[in-house]
This record gives sequence, C-alpha cells and structure tokens, in this order.
Amino acid sequence: MTSTDSADPLSQPPHPNPSSNGRGAPPRRRGEGLRIALLYNLAQNAPALGGDAPADALDELDTQKNVEAYAAALRAAGHTVFPMEGDVSLAARLRRLRVDVAFNTCEGYVGDSREAQVPALLEMLGIPYTAAAVLGLSLTLDKAMTKRVLAYHGLPTPRFQEFCTADDPLDPTLRFPLFIKPNREGTGKGITGKSIVNSQAELRHYVGYLLKHYRQSVLVEEYIDGRDLTCGLVGNLATAALNAPIPLDALRSKDGVGVDYAGVHFFPISEVDYTVYEPGTEPVYSNRLKVELADRYRGLCPAPLAEDVAAEIRRLTLETFRRTQSVDVCRVDFRLDRQSGPHAQPQILEINSLPGLTPISDLTLCAEAEGWSHADLIVAVMNAAIGRHRLTPKANGKAAGRATRAAQVAPGPVVESSF
Ligand SMILES: Nc1ncnc2c1ncn2[C@@H]1O[C@H](COP(=O)(O)OP(=O)(O)OP(=O)(O)O)[C@@H](O)[C@H]1O
Ligand SMILES: [Mg+2]
Repeated sequence: MTSTDSADPLSQPPHPNPSSNGRGAPPRRRGEGLRIALLYNLAQNAPALGGDAPADALDELDTQKNVEAYAAALRAAGHTVFPMEGDVSLAARLRRLRVDVAFNTCEGYVGDSREAQVPALLEMLGIPYTAAAVLGLSLTLDKAMTKRVLAYHGLPTPRFQEFCTADDPLDPTLRFPLFIKPNREGTGKGITGKSIVNSQAELRHYVGYLLKHYRQSVLVEEYIDGRDLTCGLVGNLATAALNAPIPLDALRSKDGVGVDYAGVHFFPISEVDYTVYEPGTEPVYSNRLKVELADRYRGLCPAPLAEDVAAEIRRLTLETFRRTQSVDVCRVDFRLDRQSGPHAQPQILEINSLPGLTPISDLTLCAEAEGWSHADLIVAVMNAAIGRHRLTPKANGKAAGRATRAAQVAPGPVVESSF
C-alpha cells in the first residue's frame, strides 16, 4: 500500500453511524476528535519470504479491508485518522503529521520482539499508543518467557520445556502426550495435528521441522485434553485495584454474559465448538481451523460453564493481563482439562496482548455476543488508551492542558512508559 502524510490512502466507506446499542458498549464522543495514526502491517507489504518459509508465514498480518474497518470505526467516533504502514519510514511521517495518539495493530515482520518495534519507535517520538508497551509486547510474544512469569505468580499453565535444538534432552518429568508449537507465533502458525506427539521420535521430528521453518525456539508443553476457551477484556484497572487481590465474587456474572470490574470490561467467555468439523479433524484450534476453515468456525459464546469456573477464568485473565504489563485490551486462551470434569482447573495457554481486532477475530465475536459492534470494540480500545494517557486533542500543535471528557470514558492508570 502507498500512503502519504496528508492524504488518507484508504477509501472512506460510508460512516455507518453505529449506535451504542450493545450492553455496556462505550458511549460515543463527538466534537472532541483526536488526530490518530492508524498503524498496521499488511501481508502484501511483508518482506520477501525465504524458500523454506512455511505456508502460514503471513497469516498473522493484516488486509486493507480490515484496516478500512478500523479507520471507519475511529472516524465515526469523531476522530481524524491517518492510516499508515508501520515500516521504517514511519518516524519521518509521524514527525510531520503531529498526531495525538497511535492506534497500534502492528504485528511486525521479523525479529524476536517484532511486535514491540513500532511501540519502541513511538516512544522515541513521544507519541502515545493503544495496547501494551515495549516490555509487555516483547514478553507476551514469547510464550515460554510468559509462562515463566505466570509460574512465578503461581498462575496455572501447562508444564513445559523450551527446545533450541531437536536433540535437547527431554525433561523426564514431562508426561506424554506432549504438544508442540513455535514459541513466538500466533494465528495457530505451526499448529497442526502433528503438534500432538506420543513418543520421543514424533517429538524430535516435529521440533526439528518447526526449528528449521520458523527459525525460533520451540515450545513443548504437556497436552491438555479438553475444552478450548478464550476470555477477552477491554479497559484498565483503576489505580487502587492495580496490585490488590482480585475478589472472585466480584467476577461472577449476574446474567452469564459480560462483567465489569474496577475499570475493566470482560466480554463473554467463548468456547470453540468442534462439532462443526468433519470427524477426524485435529482436536486443536490449529492454523487450518483459524484460516482455511475460518468460515465454518462456531463459538459457543457465552460458553456453557458453571459460574464459579467462569469467574475463575476471568480472575486468571485479569491476573495474566496485569502480570504481563498488558494494557487497554487482551485475550487470554485457556484449556479446561476434560479428564478432571466440569470443575477442572483452567490452564492458561497464552495471552494475546495485541489480539486480533479484525471484523472476524475471536475478540470481535466475543464482543458481538453481547451486542457490541466491531466499531464499538475498536472505539473501546481507543478510549481505554485515551483514558490511560489522559489525552486531549492538540491545539495548534501543543497538547492541551486539561483532561477532557475523553479521559473520563475509561479512567485508568497512566503507565510509566507512557506520556
Ligand atoms: N498445551 C496444550 N494442550 C492442548 N492444546 C493446546 C496446547 N497449547 C495449544 N493448544 C491448542 O492450540 C491452540 C492454539 O494455541 P495458542 O493459543 O498457543 O496458539 P496461537 O497461535 O498463539 O493462537 P492465537 O491465534 O490465539 O494467537 C489452542 O487453542 C489449543 O487448541
Ligand atoms: Mg491462542
């Protein structure tokens, strides 16, 4: 995509004028628009792939159509939007544009902290942005490092080992079946039926394959045979709640749908419905299910769960969110062990601190399940950042002094690394 600083390269679809009809959906603000840089990484702009790149190499990256949807949502909320690719030309463009804030969706193309590259640049430029900052995104892209942090805080996650070569000695305390995935990917990249292994020979074969094609360490975890659940939230914990114990009772839903707690809104928990797939389909939410069979996906949302289990999943989501320095939005994925029955301990698989926000992303489907529109979700993420940074529109290039109504939409802590 080509883009210039002064002109928005994306065609502007008619503004749908969405109403806040959703339960708990954020109020619309008008007349207080900010200048927003909408940052993205499109698959079509990715650097040329090497010959041994896997078929799913570009699956995390965005499309122009999705970017148009984000832009339309922000414009309908009264903002001026400057969409642009998050590439090496970003610094020069942003300097000229004098934006108030960036809406960051950049997954990054290469590098072990690729999601943190654009945020690092934004911090050097003094531009606040949506979602987690450099440390949070570097940490949560790395599943093994995230699991070490979770374990430190006593949060449940499958036992694991990180492999750097296919010959690393296997930890004898790990029990087969084991589950194998690349350490720093999303959208199910590298996750197939072969990810479930029952022997050392299978394990070493698939670890070797992933090391060669994904060029990063490989995560080997105990396989949790059970239900796939995901829990998303938007907002930020009020300062008083930032480090306080999270009372489980406050996380019970009165109507089984969404829950609000101390500045954070939880969307209904969703479960992958595997009954829609052909018999013999891999029993995991693989790349094939997420991409090739995306049209067939059906989520049970709200997932049929006992309320005490749902509340525990919300508590674990919030603990993971705050312990990994996530802000504004996240989605945490879980498995609920089938063998241990309906009251099994939910196991945290990963946190998405920069979750997919496309019109068909899991988080969007969760928000829609309680009556929000896709635009409501985008604006809620924006408002969470506006509140956290206490932003007001720039007047004649100078930041205005007082917090406006925008800051009251989603009050939250000002994170130290922000501006
Ligand atoms: N230890 C495990 N035991 C059982 N299944 C697992 C395990 N780890 C991952 N899975 C399966 O693989 C799916 C994807 O795993 P994970 O969420 O880690 O991948 P991802 O590519 O980061 O996903 P996302 O699209 O959310 O970014 C899970 O939803 C689950 O079905
Ligand atoms: Mg996941």
